[in-house]
Amino acid sequence: MTDPQDAIDAQSEVRRRERDERVYEHTAGDVQEGVPFVGAGPGDPGLLTVTGKELVEDADLVVHAGSLVNSELLDEYCDDAELVNSVGKDLEELVPLMRDAYEDDRNVVRLHSGDPAIYGAALEQMDALEHADVPTYFVPGVTSAFAASATLRTQLTLNETANHVAFTRPQGKTLDPEEDHIGEFVEMGDVTTCIYLGTHAVGETMDRLLDEGHDPDTPVTVVYHASWPDEEIIEGTVETIGEKLEDAGYRASAMVIIGQAGTGAGYERSYLYGDWANSGPNDSETEADD
Ligand SMILES: C[S@@+](CC[C@H](N)C(=O)[O-])C[C@H]1O[C@@H](n2cnc3c(N)ncnc32)[C@H](O)[C@@H]1O
Repeated sequence: MTDPQDAIDAQSEVRRRERDERVYEHTAGDVQEGVPFVGAGPGDPGLLTVTGKELVEDADLVVHAGSLVNSELLDEYCDDAELVNSVGKDLEELVPLMRDAYEDDRNVVRLHSGDPAIYGAALEQMDALEHADVPTYFVPGVTSAFAASATLRTQLTLNETANHVAFTRPQGKTLDPEEDHIGEFVEMGDVTTCIYLGTHAVGETMDRLLDEGHDPDTPVTVVYHASWPDEEIIEGTVETIGEKLEDAGYRASAMVIIGQAGTGAGYERSYLYGDWANSGPNDSETEADD
């Protein structure tokens, strides 16, 4: 097998020169030739897309993201498939596993949690497979930030309080301190900051925000296991949430939402169903909202 980094570099080089023809031949949601990288959604099997469900039901081999994919979903839909947990396996192990199964004419599905395009490390697996002449494609899923906002009965964007959304993660093994932009998002004031992969570091993240002089009363809402039966909501502020989360004992699998939108309070009615309602069908900003 080609070294995975060499495969990534080679595929990147091809991509730099020209767009893959398949980009124009297919729309998202099309079932295509090859190994689908399917978003399993946040946990509840009902939040898997119809296409995703059909693909896993037909699969002979499902390589899944371990405890982040609800076992209920695997039990319900992947009855006949061989199941392989990807946790603890490197590309050198995963890629030949999927390639060999595909070459043996088995239906292979790579099942990521949430949406594979968000902190999923999917593209590197796809590039390594494509480099080995195994075609691949994405099937999107519901990312956990969207499940958390549904649980909280709020929107991540709200007129006046939250004009932007940031999907981010805190500094740690992957991000150097200067690559951690959480403080900058909070500073902007009208951004809903959704922190992935940061449950274990909420205390440190909040301490940094306090040291940087951010408002200690800024709301922070944590949703553990959004859409799972043991889902839990912990509400606090930049000042209080660290201790509350420590008391709750969660170190993983939670969405941390900083900003007023997490509470759903204090927003203004939109223009869409106000002044713009009768402004005619060609208003592009009206079209952009719904
Ligand atoms: C490796 S990332 C994968 C994210 C995934 N691709 C997505 O779109 O949700 C794992 C992180 O996603 C978040 N996460 C995943 N599932 C979750 C859920 N059901 N509820 C809350 N957060 C979740 C947690 O922050 C976790 O640390």
